[in-house]
Amino acid sequence: MSLFRLEGVDYAYPDGAQVLHGISFALEEGENLGILGESGSGKSTLLRLLLGLDRPDAGSVEADGSPLDLRDRARMKAHRRFVQPVFQDPYGSLDPRMRIGRALAEPIAALGLPLDPHTEVPRVLAAVGLPEDSARRSPRAFSGGQRQRIAIARALIARPRVLLADEPVSALDLSTRVRIIELLAALGRELTLVMVSHDVAVVAALCSRMIVLEQGRIVEAGPVRRILEAPQHPYTRRLLASLPRMPAPERTTS
Ligand SMILES: Nc1ncnc2c1ncn2[C@@H]1O[C@H](COP(=O)(O)OP(=O)(O)O)[C@@H](O)[C@H]1O
Ligand SMILES: [Mg+2]
Repeated sequence: MSLFRLEGVDYAYPDGAQVLHGISFALEEGENLGILGESGSGKSTLLRLLLGLDRPDAGSVEADGSPLDLRDRARMKAHRRFVQPVFQDPYGSLDPRMRIGRALAEPIAALGLPLDPHTEVPRVLAAVGLPEDSARRSPRAFSGGQRQRIAIARALIARPRVLLADEPVSALDLSTRVRIIELLAALGRELTLVMVSHDVAVVAALCSRMIVLEQGRIVEAGPVRRILEAPQHPYTRRLLASLPRMPAPERTTS
């Protein structure tokens, strides 16, 4: 069963032009999917639909084998456990007044999960390479890269099957970026990653398959290795040509 299956998804913001056009793809367990496209191509909008924050004007979004119905509260609660997001801005995603331990434990209560924060908070801190006593500190005590680790830890606490990361390293300096990519690569061997990026090096480092979005349309899709070696679409070739390579950790197998 596919983790996600989209068929013919169209989407327009209420006050705007159409942003997504006939998007279809499936995400299978064990593959990590990259969504590559320039700024404004519709990547974050597509993630909103995967998260169930909005529904398509046409077409369907299925997750874990059944359609998302935003009015079905039980269905959406299960979905919030199934998939968790990590966003670009590690500053915006943490409440500065809340200690890390509480911030990490919050989803357990919010989703009513049968998990014990006393064991789960240390588990996720260890998973992202932060010391256990981080739980007692406030977000102010951490650097940008550490805050992004905390945001990832928070996404992991519900034990999701899929992690959706929207430009998770774009706001970080280069050396921090490499270390967060290494962390995501390690996590991507345990669960399924969907990585949104305008940077092909990030997708290449983490993903086995990718789709390329141009102005809300998929112009190319397939194994990352194949697309990097022989991009078929001029837009993809342009994206590949315009970007410097960064030192990549071990690539996920396709
Ligand atoms: N809340 C919104 N209301 C109206 N238009 C939006 C909104 N968010 C994004 N858009 C528009 O949708 C298009 C795609 O944006 P987005 O999904 O954020 O692209 P990306 O993440 O690839 O940069 C852009 O033209 C953007 O201006
Ligand atoms: Mg975006």
